[in-house]
Amino acid sequence: MDVDQSVSQFVAAFGRPPAGAVRAPGRVNLIGEHTDYNDGFVLPVAIERQAVALHASRSDARVMFRSRQADEPAEVALDDEIVPGEPAWANYPKGVVAGLREAGAPLVGCDVLFDSDVPVGAGLSSSAALEVAAAEALLAAAGARREIADDELVRICQRAEHAFAAAPCGIMDQSIAVMARAGHALLLDCRSGETRYVPFDLHAAGLALLVADTQVAHAIAGGAYAERRSQCAAAASILGVASLRDVTDRQLADAAADGVLDGVALMRARHVVGEIARTLHAVEAVTLRDWALVGELMYASHESLRDDYEVSCPELDAIVEIAEGCEGVHGARMTGGGFGGCAIILADAARADAVGERIASGFAERLGRRCPIFMTGAAGGAGPVTV
Ligand code: GLA
Repeated sequence: MDVDQSVSQFVAAFGRPPAGAVRAPGRVNLIGEHTDYNDGFVLPVAIERQAVALHASRSDARVMFRSRQADEPAEVALDDEIVPGEPAWANYPKGVVAGLREAGAPLVGCDVLFDSDVPVGAGLSSSAALEVAAAEALLAAAGARREIADDELVRICQRAEHAFAAAPCGIMDQSIAVMARAGHALLLDCRSGETRYVPFDLHAAGLALLVADTQVAHAIAGGAYAERRSQCAAAASILGVASLRDVTDRQLADAAADGVLDGVALMRARHVVGEIARTLHAVEAVTLRDWALVGELMYASHESLRDDYEVSCPELDAIVEIAEGCEGVHGARMTGGGFGGCAIILADAARADAVGERIASGFAERLGRRCPIFMTGAAGGAGPVTV
């Protein structure tokens, strides 16, 4: 992304240069899908695509938001009630203002310009990147970043998404955007909030991580995501536990054998219980650099999401199937909420270009158009950018 262009745009929009800028990355999830809202484990990686927010404080108590990706600006008066509305893109940063204010952060009026190269609706957490960049910019403008702890910032951004964008997301996307460390994946225990950085230096390992975009719009505000959440809660309540995190393989097998759990509830629970175990197993495999095992776990995750959780789609399945047939590929799976969006492919770096070409052309043979593919390393988390 060309931050100089964003600076020029800021000057054009607000008539003065920005005082500073911050960034927050998008993400892929290596494994641990639909486990965050079940109190489970996730293993996301920040990608080299990000939202940037340039900012400068104002002398009044108004926050003026603009985006290079949208025509319509938005305005928030810090002394008034803040409610979601139009333009829709601004609901994320507006929700963040409301959340920061509620948390007692000392906000000041400011001008903020967003720029982002995280594709929207592609399941790469463009909204979490926007929320976290907004929070960092508002706090930087007020000189108050230190007053809000990282985990609180994560919760404020998640609540903004729930309350202002009607998207009942878990905690994964905002967590990785805030806490990512370059060259690492983040193991997050979504129950305790405990984190562990797992070294994932693709370059040193001779690996490449490819992200293939189905370009099928994914929207987690849609009912299917919320429906999965309530199916999981229902399965947990049938099993008499607080969340599916508490269910062992044995309990699940017994509940299935006794007919306590069946049909959709059993399928959803089987995915979540299996996926939590796969995530912890994958952490060991990544640590041992056993890429064949990491790959196997990725394929198993995809199959479970496709068959038991029913959140894949033909385009995602096509990418994973084609990838599986390519030399130099260790594993592939859908990433993020599903119903479209992106798949990730872990491949040998030396074969990455050939793999990308094979997937894009194979996708075109099946679906009549190529799917865009990019490569990414494990990027760092939110923070200041020099302008
Ligand atoms: C979306 C949500 C996350 C998580 C994933 C599925 O990305 O925002 O909280 O639930 O789906 O793993």
